[in-house]
Amino acid sequence: MDRFIIRGGKPLHGEITIGGAKNAGLKLMVAGLLTGERLVLTNVPRIADIATMRDLLVQHGVAVEDLNGDGSSYSIGGEITNTEAPYDIVSKMRASILVLGPLLARCRKARVSLPGGCAIGTRPVDMHLKGLETLGAEIRLEGGYINATAPNGLIGDRVILPFASVGATENLLMAATLAKGRTEIVNAAREPEIGDLVACLNAMGAKITGSGSGTLVIDGVDSLHGAEHRIMPDRIECGTYACAAGITGGDLKLLGGRVDDLGAVVRALEETGVEVTQESYGMRVRRTGALRGIDIMTEPYPGFPTDMQAQFMAMLAVAEGASMITETIFENRFMHVPELNRMGARINVHGSSAIIRGVHALSGAPVMATDLRASFSLILAGLAAHGETTLSRVYHLDRGYEAVEKKLAACGANIERVKG
Ligand code: UD1
Repeated sequence: MDRFIIRGGKPLHGEITIGGAKNAGLKLMVAGLLTGERLVLTNVPRIADIATMRDLLVQHGVAVEDLNGDGSSYSIGGEITNTEAPYDIVSKMRASILVLGPLLARCRKARVSLPGGCAIGTRPVDMHLKGLETLGAEIRLEGGYINATAPNGLIGDRVILPFASVGATENLLMAATLAKGRTEIVNAAREPEIGDLVACLNAMGAKITGSGSGTLVIDGVDSLHGAEHRIMPDRIECGTYACAAGITGGDLKLLGGRVDDLGAVVRALEETGVEVTQESYGMRVRRTGALRGIDIMTEPYPGFPTDMQAQFMAMLAVAEGASMITETIFENRFMHVPELNRMGARINVHGSSAIIRGVHALSGAPVMATDLRASFSLILAGLAAHGETTLSRVYHLDRGYEAVEKKLAACGANIERVKG
């Protein structure tokens, strides 16, 4: 298992290219199941989760071609020969559940392993299943699998989500593109990645309106066709590197970064004393003064994203004064706290809130990654800490961040990957 060795204390200066969004790219690949024609995706991030999604699609029988041989563009297309998503892939990556709606819509049947729990919470899929039942699917849970059929095809209806779940919105959205008649998804999630998916589906011939409004209206069509789509920049990667500039007191040009996608994150950065500007090349982020403590609550978009919570916690650990972070999306997403405390942070967790008392400095230590975003919070802490930090279980990070050590080292960070 690879690990990172980080020697902290250097402000970061330079340019970092923001890659394609993981959370858009995965769903856009799944959208390839909705047509027999070729869907070409460009600006694909080179990360482990995308490779897992490729494996999943290939075992459904679909051809996935790496167009440039470097993992940056894929062509997806062909007939579906297998409607089962097996446990060994779904258990590796929860986003695999998103094949359920498209398989049902196109093949009228699907058998998908239940994803089960994961490190950051129980994460059930009840809203995905209830929504698909509203569209006429018959669903049975058996032997750890979701067996779903729609013998007469899916039929459009009004689905009211009790919570604006990102995954449930996407599953229903994709399924509804090929359903008979009109589907309305009320209380739909509004994350920018869903807007990207809508844009691609519409380019494939779907009829979707209401993107970003909280109510999606989908008029089903008989079939979708091929298209070419460029994946949007990863707002979470961009926000993460913005925190790297913030915690080290650096100045970074985040090429391709978009302030508009990051609303609440930009406001929080500014409140802590980090300056953010939109430039022609992307986002510029710098800090010259002290970091100030702030209070944050995670919420569905356009609120502060749960995927930026751990990175902000690292930054607030060295800010002046006290901060409070309340996590409302996932019930177990503070696993980075004990690790940050081992580096000298003063953080207490009370239920779904963490109180962070800023310390003057952190000190390097051996720490362990527990999930994707938590891993990066430990890198951030390591970049700001005195001495050496060893981060093990880097595979969590490789799931969702491309070339981390190269991007950071190019801006002056002392970080190396040790294979093993
Ligand atoms: C997606 C993102 C993830 C992000 C999250 C919230 C991807 C691949 N992942 O995950 O990075 O942190 O949105 O912005 O895009 N829930 C239920 N029942 C359901 C569905 C969800 O109870 O049927 C709960 C979950 O357990 C969780 C909350 O709703 O507590 C949010 O989940 P959801 O918005 O669905 O997140 P994901 O799509 O899994």
